[in-house]
Amino acid sequence: MNDTIQTIGILTSGGDAPGMNAAIRAVVRTALGRGLRVRGIRRGYHGLLQEEIIDMTARDVSDIIQRGGTILQTARCKEMRTEEGQQKAAAICKKYGIQGLVVIGGDGSFAGAQKLSNLGINTIGIPGTIDLDIACTEYTIGFDTAVNTAMEAIDKVRDTSTSHERCSVIEVMGRDAGYLALWCGIANGAERILMPEEHDYDEEKIIADIIGNRKRGKQHYIIINAEGIGDSMNMAKRIEEATGMETRATILGHMQRGGSPTCKDRVYASIMGAKAVDLLLEGKTNRVVGYQHGEFVDYDINEALQMHKEIPEYAYRVSKDLAL
Ligand code: ADP
Ligand code: F6P
Repeated sequence: MNDTIQTIGILTSGGDAPGMNAAIRAVVRTALGRGLRVRGIRRGYHGLLQEEIIDMTARDVSDIIQRGGTILQTARCKEMRTEEGQQKAAAICKKYGIQGLVVIGGDGSFAGAQKLSNLGINTIGIPGTIDLDIACTEYTIGFDTAVNTAMEAIDKVRDTSTSHERCSVIEVMGRDAGYLALWCGIANGAERILMPEEHDYDEEKIIADIIGNRKRGKQHYIIINAEGIGDSMNMAKRIEEATGMETRATILGHMQRGGSPTCKDRVYASIMGAKAVDLLLEGKTNRVVGYQHGEFVDYDINEALQMHKEIPEYAYRVSKDLAL
């Protein structure tokens, strides 16, 4: 147990994700239970630099485990990318007695935590992003909810697509990563999945496939297109022109980031939140919590940021095999 830590701070940063509230609740209640004081920092690093810092009690995190978004709110902050901003952020942590800081966010947010750790603030990152694009972990807070939300929305589009015998290009989020697209592609039984990680994307082949499927009597054609490929509206126009099959594009957008977290997101986020506090109490800093091979683990942030994550080859092959 590290006696030097008496006060910890917590912030959420980058895009919000369902389950962040469960993690906040777990951090606050675990810390209070261990006799620590908890400072909540509003609006991510932006709020830290503006000193938007509040004391948090166990009651402040009542009735939030089931709520999407983040009660602390979140932001993106350019100033934190500068050395001056980082120095100022560390000085503000010291001014408020924050010896340990829990940062819930993605790789960018961890890079900020890494800088603060170098400046003497003990930091622990918790992976929070619907994109699942953090290499050191098989799980990120929010992905499970987002993928289920997207899956249900795609089922609905499929109903109307089948009724009208149309092709649908459905764009899901994920920034530069294709995990949401891959999972929805398999779960929704899509004919094609387009992901930024796949370089053999060939529109001519898709067009030929649509024409062939139509001849064989298939009533719809669903393409799940990752945001990292984008261009869904134009793609739909090109496909319609080339195939003669009515084609519509649907961009699911920010609805994928909202909503009540699934059971998995609530439970995993709660465990990760508690673990972050325990790591700080063990005297650890510059660590990120992860989930690998069925266990909650932690990695050095420098190492974690160097790791690379691939799209699972076999899952992708299965998606193709099942789209006969
Ligand atoms: P995510 O955390 O989801 O990857 P961003 O990449 O938008 O989201 O990063 C969130 C915030 O983290 C940024 O707005 C910025 O304040 C901070 N950040 C990102 N990269 C760095 C960096 N290299 N150094 C310091 N802070 C960073
Ligand atoms: O990182 C989460 C995410 O929703 C990405 O999937 C998407 O590219 C991005 O954030 C959208 O960001 P914003 O909310 O700023 O439009």
